[in-house]
Amino acid sequence: MNLGLEGKTALVTGASKGIGRAVATELAREGVKVTIVARDADRLEEAARAIQAETGSEVLAVPGDLTRWEDARRAVEETINAWGRLDVLVNNAGSAPGGCILDLEPHHWDQALQLKFMGYVRATYAALPHMLRQGGGAIVNVIGNDGVKPSYWEVTATAANAADINLTLALADQYGSQGIRVNAVNPGPVNTDRWQTLCEAFARDMGVTPEQANAFAAASIPLGRIAEPHEVAWVVVFLASERASFVNGAIINIDGGQRKAYMELLARQTRGDWKLAI
Ligand SMILES: NC(=O)c1ccc[n+]([C@@H]2O[C@H](COP(=O)([O-])OP(=O)(O)OC[C@H]3O[C@@H](n4cnc5c(N)ncnc54)[C@H](OP(=O)(O)O)[C@@H]3O)[C@@H](O)[C@H]2O)c1
Repeated sequence: MNLGLEGKTALVTGASKGIGRAVATELAREGVKVTIVARDADRLEEAARAIQAETGSEVLAVPGDLTRWEDARRAVEETINAWGRLDVLVNNAGSAPGGCILDLEPHHWDQALQLKFMGYVRATYAALPHMLRQGGGAIVNVIGNDGVKPSYWEVTATAANAADINLTLALADQYGSQGIRVNAVNPGPVNTDRWQTLCEAFARDMGVTPEQANAFAAASIPLGRIAEPHEVAWVVVFLASERASFVNGAIINIDGGQRKAYMELLARQTRGDWKLAI
């Protein structure tokens, strides 16, 4: 299937590694000119060079911090300066610290909402005027299944993700008539650096080891494993493409059908403080 993305332009936030890098790579493979954003300039430059070498598409690295309005605005402006237009925005730079509510400090909440929610607001705010001027565009928000499957050991992500989902639905409603589609994907566990830190938080709060946390996650997923970053990227690229022309306000889980509560059940059983009633 030809996705109809050849010659389009995109901006992907948080794209020096993990899911964002996989999204930028798959977009570039489709012939999209891609701007990538992250804070660590060296790692970002390395990613841009590698994606360009692998795909033959042009990649622009714009170092920036999505907790800053000015950086979000500059990333969009540099994209417009370089490519003349912005067809696709992928909001992906986000991390909300894992942990139960009494294990979290106030700054963890600030950190989670400033990036995972407000970071998406900032980039969208900067991109929308250009998409409106062009007469269309596509925004894809990489959120997370905590937004629809809340878990008390990831309570900041649960809150920030739910806010992102509602933002997605509201903007899809507002801008669909102007040719701008807004959709979201909700990954479950994905094999990235961030997943390792989430396993450590789960292990700390549940009294198990990070290795056990990882194994419990796989066991909670009917497909029997966690996802690889490119499996998220494939869906994001489809949603950004012409082949998703009638998809607007969709929130798609990419979590292998995860039954999240099963992770906690396995941890309790392992600690011996709760017998499974099966
Ligand atoms: N991995 C999972 O299991 C999982 C599950 C559900 C949802 N998600 C969501 O998927 C997205 C990507 O996660 P990931 O696992 O791929 O994370 P990751 O491997 O840790 O990569 C995060 C990327 O975002 C960048 N970044 C972090 N803070 C930033 C900031 N303030 N401004 C700009 N860029 C920033 C990082 O580079 P710098 O550090 O250099 O800035 C890096 O490029 C996140 O929104 C996450 O919440 C992930």
